Amino acid sequence: MSGKTKTGLIKSSIGKKVFMGLTGLFLCLFLAGHLAGNLQLLLPAEVARDQFNAYAKFMTTNPAVKLLSYLTYFSILFHAVDGLYLAWQNKQARPQAYYKKDDAANAGWASRNMAVLGTLLLVFIVIHMKSFWYEMHFGNVPVYASIEHGELKDLYTLTTTAFTEWWYVLIYVLSMGAVGFHLWHGFGSGFKSLGISHPVYTPLLNGFGKGFAVVVSVLFAILPVYLFLTSLN
Ligand code: HEM
Repeated sequence: MSGKTKTGLIKSSIGKKVFMGLTGLFLCLFLAGHLAGNLQLLLPAEVARDQFNAYAKFMTTNPAVKLLSYLTYFSILFHAVDGLYLAWQNKQARPQAYYKKDDAANAGWASRNMAVLGTLLLVFIVIHMKSFWYEMHFGNVPVYASIEHGELKDLYTLTTTAFTEWWYVLIYVLSMGAVGFHLWHGFGSGFKSLGISHPVYTPLLNGFGKGFAVVVSVLFAILPVYLFLTSLN
């Protein structure tokens, strides 16, 4: 593919949809991995502290994981900026009356509100990364000597302490609702944007996407609620 054709693909709205699909599906993989790592927070505190902190050390220092992290930051930015641009373009292209009339009939609630849900997620990601990612990389997270893993930053205590505040837990639970609805439509839509369509496999993939949306959002939401409830004891 020539350089000119490549730029044309990125600039065209079909090209934009393909990149939206690719970045969105990559972010689904990120979410599955992130959830698996975070589920360690459900272990008993004496085990979880060292295990979670050693895991965080590996995730922030391993060169291959670092590369994946950069890909994640890029995907979030690209997906958000391009998603908002495509939503704006769609709105411009459709006369208002037609838009209102056909919208509800043609698509579900999540599908019609992807841009709003995505914007809520972007706000959540900014709050979330300030609380944990920024503190881990640039803040003053206390360091201690673990017998098994050597020097570790205590991200576990930072995380569990954050969820002792009910309003912070509420922000997370509501945001996980947005994650669920965004994925409910987004997973299948990602494959569609890549031009992948099959009479048998596409409905199966869409069904899997809906299951994925429910499982991921519910399990993510359980974490802050669990940490809040255990902090009451
Ligand atoms: C209860 C739910 C969640 C908890 C407890 C949690 C916890 C954490 C923690 C402790 C970190 C810092 C780790 C590090 O810097 O390596 C982190 C990073 C991050 N989280 Fe979450 N997270 C949750 C849900 C989510 C969700 C739903 C998203 C996206 C919609 C998300 C996106 C991110 C991103 C993009 C990073 C930076 C990752 C990187 O640097 O590679 N998190 N999270």
